[in-house]
Amino acid sequence: MRLTYTSDVWYKNAVVYCLDVETFKDGNGDGVGDFHGLTQQIDYLAGLGVTCLWLMPFFPTPNRDDGYDITDFYSIDPRLGTLGDFVEFMRTAHDRGLRVIADLVVNHTSDQHPWFKEARKSKDSPMRDWYVWSDTPEPDDPSQVVFPDKESSFWEYDEGSGQYYLHSFYRHQPDLNVGNPEVRDEIARILGFWMELGLSGFRVDAVPFLIENVNPKLADPHEFLQDLRAFMTRRKGGSILLGEVNLPYKDLTGYFGDGLGDQITMCFDFVGMQKAWLAMARQDARPLAAALRERPKPPKDCQWAMFLRNHDELTLDKLSEEERQEVFQAFGPHESMQIFGRGLRRRLPTMLGGDLRRIKMAYSLLFSLPGTPVIFYGEEIGLGENLDEEGRMAVRIPMQWSGDGGFTQGEAAPVREVPEGAFAPDRVNVADQKRDTNSLLRWFQLLIERYRECPELAWGDSTVLDTGHHAVLAHRCDVDRATVVVAHNLCDTALDVEVTLAGLERCQLTDLLVDDTLEVADDGTARLPLGPHGCRWLRASPPEVPPEDASVKAQ
Ligand code: NOJ
Repeated sequence: MRLTYTSDVWYKNAVVYCLDVETFKDGNGDGVGDFHGLTQQIDYLAGLGVTCLWLMPFFPTPNRDDGYDITDFYSIDPRLGTLGDFVEFMRTAHDRGLRVIADLVVNHTSDQHPWFKEARKSKDSPMRDWYVWSDTPEPDDPSQVVFPDKESSFWEYDEGSGQYYLHSFYRHQPDLNVGNPEVRDEIARILGFWMELGLSGFRVDAVPFLIENVNPKLADPHEFLQDLRAFMTRRKGGSILLGEVNLPYKDLTGYFGDGLGDQITMCFDFVGMQKAWLAMARQDARPLAAALRERPKPPKDCQWAMFLRNHDELTLDKLSEEERQEVFQAFGPHESMQIFGRGLRRRLPTMLGGDLRRIKMAYSLLFSLPGTPVIFYGEEIGLGENLDEEGRMAVRIPMQWSGDGGFTQGEAAPVREVPEGAFAPDRVNVADQKRDTNSLLRWFQLLIERYRECPELAWGDSTVLDTGHHAVLAHRCDVDRATVVVAHNLCDTALDVEVTLAGLERCQLTDLLVDDTLEVADDGTARLPLGPHGCRWLRASPPEVPPEDASVKAQ
């Protein structure tokens, strides 16, 4: 069918930008970011080229888990603005062609949510069954506890009503019971509400936890995900679920909806992300190449979501103990940089020692790997972290707009402190990088522009190529006789590798990032010279076909 590369499946080649309203831009001078401030920065985001904003939770909250503990799913945290401000923001985002998705955190509520307050009143409460209770919980497996610094169990005894309640995360986040059809209906109502206000979908928090450990057990837990997706599609075609499903590949494919693709539209590739970090630590592409070769192809109309960093710790839970220690040694050797024994509370540029060439290579890799790139606010300028902030908050610092910070204009202290030293606002900020053609911000703009011009990366069949050198990852993406070939040098010395490009004999390879062309020989081989941490995106075009005509065009 010709109408394949269309924006009906917009998420396939979207560029998703995750931000927290609280730390993005303060519009009223109280030190807390808000919708008003965010709305003023939409032109910046549109200019960057991102196509979809993912908003971290913006709902009323006691804020004991940075908003992932919600007390009302149908309104706005008053610190961030009003529902009116939200609608103005949505209107402006849509006007600039941006879609918006939001965090859907319905595995649990805050223990301050009126539902839980009611449920814990007694065993006979009409809302008792909205949560998961037990007289005799199963013994815990300590290795599975998500926040081992604060919790040692999934169960908390509720003195008042004399039973234990389940909490997959902190004890102040009781798990909702999706075994109860009323809860399932309520969740659909929440989706419907925000979709009515213009959202194009949701990033679903903690998906496996949501559907497991419910009471009674669901005969088919995945049916609930199917129902949700079907409900959304009925309401608004093209709306998506972007799932946080941190599982090995073999356990993950069911979340797309095996074969059918009727559940989670896009799953984050946690395994690929961790192998990418291992590869960077070793300056050896093989761990990542192996993951890409092993990774299952998502069902038609589904997609992997690619990321290098997010708002949480850089989790390394899918690596072996030895591998994890290697990444710790390379990118976060100090204890203060590590968290939960499994991750790093750092951002990418500090981990890569501020080496701009290497940082640029890492993001080129991100944008060219098969899947939809998801970036965390500030990555485009190389925002650092502040290890003085508590736990995971180290990476959730205010956006740095100008030399003096520019996050807030008021007297009030900002919600979190920016870093000092090499990553302080006077060294890392939007205003300066806009004027510097060599800046990371400009590099992001270029990568995003090229990525959007290469639908092959999003739709194509991707093949990892043999390069003869372990430091170089090369892959090709092919669709409808159009091909993009990509190569990344993970090490800090220049290399010249040879790849064999079957079917591209005598083609020209036009570099899409710098002014250069290479040739594919009669026997299909091509030499790819790469600088230290060099990267190349090459469009293949047969002789006589101008390179710009050799690409698939998205509609
Ligand atoms: C995953 C979120 O990414 C994390 O920030 C949060 O603490 C937990 N889920 C609990 O909602």
